[in-house]
Amino acid sequence: MTEMAVVGAPSPNGSGANSSDLIETRGLSLGYNKIPVVRDLDLHVREGEVVCILGANGAGKTTTILGLAGELSPMSGEIHWLGKPVKSPLHVRARQGLAFVPEERSVIFGLSVLDNLRLGQGDVDAALELAPELRDMRHKRAGLLSGGEQQILTLARALASNPRLLIADELSLGLAPLVVERLLLAARRAADRGIGVLLVEQHIRSALAVADRALVLRRGQVVLQGTAAELSSRTAEIEASYMTAGPDEDETD
Ligand SMILES: Nc1ncnc2c1ncn2[C@@H]1O[C@H](COP(=O)(O)OP(=O)(O)O)[C@@H](O)[C@H]1O
Ligand SMILES: [Mg+2]
Repeated sequence: MTEMAVVGAPSPNGSGANSSDLIETRGLSLGYNKIPVVRDLDLHVREGEVVCILGANGAGKTTTILGLAGELSPMSGEIHWLGKPVKSPLHVRARQGLAFVPEERSVIFGLSVLDNLRLGQGDVDAALELAPELRDMRHKRAGLLSGGEQQILTLARALASNPRLLIADELSLGLAPLVVERLLLAARRAADRGIGVLLVEQHIRSALAVADRALVLRRGQVVLQGTAAELSSRTAEIEASYMTAGPDEDETD
């Protein structure tokens, strides 16, 4: 844990990146079948901070984090993980402390909450501290939980593995506002204990309330970024200009 890193402060080289970065990309391009979807992306996540990726459907958010997680190979550019360039797949990065929560829910319905948490092979008690609402339902079968509770369990299980970096894709998709806030709060608590958190979110206001920094993607490129405070004052503009690109984000204006 470094005390040196001032969250959101630019580094002397102006890139914003520095040695406490858990993950950093340089000129990263990602795509499918040789067609780029995300272009020339520079981002970084440090210990102790929550960084949010915002953007409309099809903007390239999932593509971005699939690349960071090691599920999709870069077309060009670099990803530095724990200070070194990486090309390893997710299962190797996972062993080194990268927890990835994809968009699909993945709790095991037939197992209890506690047994689901144990699958993380980590610290179940710590996970319950971060998501205390699970305590009372720890003996309940996961299949009997509400959608929101299942997502909290998904997050808690990822946190039980004691990751250094958590990357989560739209954890709160389709959930009630109160549950969204609980999920985001659990992510915030985890960051306050020193891990880095990178979240893809559609709930801009709730996300910015817990984030340190955010970036807005549009058609695979960063069009806006800043501290959560800076972007919070522009939520109306972000919502109007960047979150509602319509059904086909690839269309030209
Ligand atoms: N497996 C895939 N093969 C080809 N194109 C894809 C694939 N997944 C996503 N895309 C395209 O990449 C673009 C970005 O998608 P995605 O990263 O899922 O956006 P977001 O998560 O922001 O909604 C979209 O135009 C989408 O159609
Ligand atoms: Mg997505």
